[in-house]
Amino acid sequence: MDKLIIHGNVPLQGEVRISGAKNAALPILTASLLTSAPVHIHNIPHLHDVTTIMSLLGQMGARVTLHENLGVEVDAGSVNSFQAPYDLVRTMRASVLVLGPLLSRFGRAEVSLPGGCAIGTRPVDQHLKGMQAMGVDVCIENGYIQAQAKKRLQGATIVMDIVTVTGTENIMMAAVLAKGQTIIHNAAREPEVEDLANFLNILGAKITGAGTSTIVIEGVNELGGGSYHVLPDRIETGTYLAAAVITRGKVKLKNTRPDLLESVLLKLEETGGEINTGQDWISLDMKGNRPRAVNISTAPYPAFPTDMQAQMMAVNTVAEGVGIVTETVFENRFMHVQELQRMGADIALKGNIAICTGVGQLQGAPVMATDLRASASLILAGLAAEKETVINRIYHIDRGYSCIEEKLSQLGARVQRMAS
Ligand code: UD1
Repeated sequence: MDKLIIHGNVPLQGEVRISGAKNAALPILTASLLTSAPVHIHNIPHLHDVTTIMSLLGQMGARVTLHENLGVEVDAGSVNSFQAPYDLVRTMRASVLVLGPLLSRFGRAEVSLPGGCAIGTRPVDQHLKGMQAMGVDVCIENGYIQAQAKKRLQGATIVMDIVTVTGTENIMMAAVLAKGQTIIHNAAREPEVEDLANFLNILGAKITGAGTSTIVIEGVNELGGGSYHVLPDRIETGTYLAAAVITRGKVKLKNTRPDLLESVLLKLEETGGEINTGQDWISLDMKGNRPRAVNISTAPYPAFPTDMQAQMMAVNTVAEGVGIVTETVFENRFMHVQELQRMGADIALKGNIAICTGVGQLQGAPVMATDLRASASLILAGLAAEKETVINRIYHIDRGYSCIEEKLSQLGARVQRMAS
């Protein structure tokens, strides 16, 4: 398993390009199952999770072609299998996103239950409830969701009990080819949900309200082909900005969109970062100053994203003052705390609240990455720490950050990957 070795204490300086958003690319790729015409998707990030979805589509019989310049062509005209097997779903929970498209177009799907994962139990009851409301029979057999509809899916009014991103996306995709109108109340408002709706509308879907908490889908008989450019990754953007804050550096990020991460930019500004933005770029300058600690509380969009919690906690560990971090979206999303403590961080845990007292200087140490965003927080800590930090199990980071060591090196970080 690869390791990342970081020699820290270097302020990051320079410019990098932000990749397409993982959490938009994944549902957009699965949404291509809704049409028998070819679709071209651009600005696809180079990530393990994307490769996993592409092999899943391939196993189902779709023709998937990777083009130069981050483009993928999917031709789902030849799909002849409706199964997402355990081996793939186990490595990536987002595989469950094939459920809605398969049911909508073919009336059947067999998807392995994702089960527990490192950041909590993460059930899919809301996805299934929505499918059942549209006339799908669902049963769980041998660890698989067996879903089948006797006739074309029927539009329905669905009230989500909790805000779920992939749940909203799955139901929206199921409703696209259903008969009649579907209304999703208490829908997730994440920009990636809106990006998926924009993509589907280009193919001929009739979706309004995506990006708000009420989405209305008028079912259509079929979708055509089309071409789409995935929006920038707001979490990758936030992570590089946090890297500039923690190292007291100055960075400019290109190919991104400041309007996607307002809550994050406000918190980064509170740490003392001077932020400037243009339509497709963001710069942050710490002017060499130590960051100030900030309080954050995670919640669905547009509030502070849970996917930036670990990175902001890393910033708090070296900041001036005490920062209180409250995680409300996932249970058990504090696995980075123990590892940060190994580097000298002063963090007290009380249920879903972490009280971080800034220590000024972290010490390099061997640490273990436990999930995607936890790994990002350890990299940030390593960039700010004295001497050497060795991050084990770095494969988690490759699921969500494109070319991370190249991009960090471009900003002057001393980072090296070692195969072991
Ligand atoms: C998506 C993102 C992930 C992000 C998360 C929250 C993708 C591919 N992943 O994950 O990066 O961290 O949103 O912003 O887009 N829940 C239920 N029942 C359900 C579904 C969810 O109880 O049927 C709960 C979950 O356990 C969790 C909360 O709802 O506590 C939110 O989860 P959800 O928004 O569904 O996360 P994902 O869509 O899996």
